[in-house]
Amino acid sequence: MGFSIEAPRMIPWKEIDRAKVPGNEGEVILLARGEEFSIRTSGTELMNSRIHGSEESLAELALSRLDPKVNWQILIGGLGMGYTLAATLEQSGSDAQILVAELIPAVVKWNQKYLGHLAGIPLEDPRVRVTQEDVVKTIGKQRAVWDAILLDVDNGPAGLTREANDRLYGNSGLKASFDALRQGGILAVWSSAVDEAFTGRMKRTGFKTKMVSVRARKSGKGSKHTIWLGQRP
Ligand SMILES: C[S@@+](CC[C@H](N)C(=O)[O-])C[C@H]1O[C@@H](n2cnc3c(N)ncnc32)[C@H](O)[C@@H]1O
Repeated sequence: MGFSIEAPRMIPWKEIDRAKVPGNEGEVILLARGEEFSIRTSGTELMNSRIHGSEESLAELALSRLDPKVNWQILIGGLGMGYTLAATLEQSGSDAQILVAELIPAVVKWNQKYLGHLAGIPLEDPRVRVTQEDVVKTIGKQRAVWDAILLDVDNGPAGLTREANDRLYGNSGLKASFDALRQGGILAVWSSAVDEAFTGRMKRTGFKTKMVSVRARKSGKGSKHTIWLGQRP
């Protein structure tokens, strides 16, 4: 990719803030260069503001499969920079209720302080609530309540940056998501890579499963990412 006129790559990264990940899991850092933001943990980039097409597709593909109905209850795992949340709000009615579970309190604070403008200040929408906890815990709290659970908490089932997130993608994690969904509800999972074993686990859990390949950018360019859509029959 060539440099734009602003040549963002020529501007050095500047650290804005850093914070501890709960549970002694290292640090998370917020960096900026020009208009671009990056959230990183131990050398791995969790999210970059330049590329967010597939994060939006996660919400669009899942919610387009739901019956039009009033009062959607939607759970999003991982706030990141709020792009999935903004796309969810775009697709949802005025009476929808959206809960975002975010593991790292600093990520919520950064969205309120530095990142909100990137996705249109979605945290200020009255349909949105945030819980600062592991989404595994949020999923386990209730049964048959969610119309959709949208998970983008890691690089996907085969690309974990946080080993504990394996609990979401293993058999018991999938069963917990299945039980937490209403009949007809959708589990959507974002991943940087294809993982046939995960497709198999979703099917064995009982989900009507489809694996979709999407591009990183809305323009149809960029790397290929994978989104699983699993419907509770
Ligand atoms: C790749 S980012 C999400 C990007 C987001 N979809 C967006 O549109 O900007 C992953 C987010 O999930 C959070 N996270 C990681 N593991 C989590 C967990 N188990 N529960 C809740 N949040 C988690 C990270 O702190 C990070 O904010």
